[in-house]
Amino acid sequence: MIYSRIAGTGSFLPEKVYTNADLERMVDTTDEWITDRTGIKKRHIAGEGETTCDLAEHASRAAIEAAGLGVDDIDLIVFATTTPDQVFPSTACLLQKRLGIHGPAAFDIQAVCSGFIYAISIADKFIKTGSAKNALVIGAETLSRIVDWTDRETCILFGDGAGAVVLSASDKPGIISTHLHADGQYESLLNVPKGIVSDYEAVKQGEAFIHMKGREVFKVAVNTLGRIVDETLDAAGMTQADIDWLVPHQANVRIIGALGKKLSLPSERVVVTVQDHGNTSAASVPLALDTAVRDGRIQRGETLFLEAFGGGFTWGSALLIY
Ligand code: COA
Repeated sequence: MIYSRIAGTGSFLPEKVYTNADLERMVDTTDEWITDRTGIKKRHIAGEGETTCDLAEHASRAAIEAAGLGVDDIDLIVFATTTPDQVFPSTACLLQKRLGIHGPAAFDIQAVCSGFIYAISIADKFIKTGSAKNALVIGAETLSRIVDWTDRETCILFGDGAGAVVLSASDKPGIISTHLHADGQYESLLNVPKGIVSDYEAVKQGEAFIHMKGREVFKVAVNTLGRIVDETLDAAGMTQADIDWLVPHQANVRIIGALGKKLSLPSERVVVTVQDHGNTSAASVPLALDTAVRDGRIQRGETLFLEAFGGGFTWGSALLIY
């Protein structure tokens, strides 16, 4: 039996930061409101000309190095992003060129905030079927480019960043199972209704930015993620007691808290980075994972529950032994 295991992780955040105090100067909000409702204190913002691929390159090189591999060992690139550099080629191909990799399949996945879970699930299947040995799986975003910085209901939530893992073939168990879902009936609750390149008039009219019905999104997210906990544990024949760490999508501390409770995990077993990064969409889970791996919290052999929820709606989970 071939398994896929996380061989290395990496992440990268742009230098520029907007604190809640900065946002107080931009829109009618307060640090207190943002902290109470979301837990977010600051978010990183890409510099002028800094692209999703730029952030991803740093995260990818760090993950490849942590895996003890070279770029020539990578034989698959799966790149989750909602904010690609260009319409085409895919950001995966742009990254492949940067890394100097020639030949292996490289493609983007668009599942908004669930993108990394979708990407790791796909890479896992390539490895388990023997089609790849070392997959580079990335979640990277420059969401600040599709945020309306005059809309206090959305601009306080999002940030830019990148996270990556190298998933390698192994004879020891790594990824136990992944579970992916989508339900397009909710598209109107969270969307960017116009294409930036295709319709510049829409940008000027403020339509090519994130639109969100926050309260409704919150309710569906909590219910849906609660259900996926049961689905994932049932599929593996495990209970809450078997989980060492929850590495959740970093959208809101209240959603994360509800999920930690569902898994009966004490708060010190839940990786929370949303206070420092905001919601970085597809980058959020691999950024949180890399943070907890590098600061020594997550150890080899521990069982991790990864989950995400996002526009579409899409949602998913991955259960794995690190
Ligand atoms: N600063 C101050 N007040 C704000 C504000 C801001 N940035 N944004 C909204 N408000 C106001 C609203 O206008 C509303 O005022 P009103 O009562 O006079 O109408 C009040 O605060 C409460 O708004 P509400 O939307 O009910 O707040 P909430 O408790 O639901 O929190 C979110 C809002 C967006 C933080 C919360 O709904 C949320 O996190 N939703 C999920 C979003 C998410 O995770 N999206 C990504 C999914 S991947």
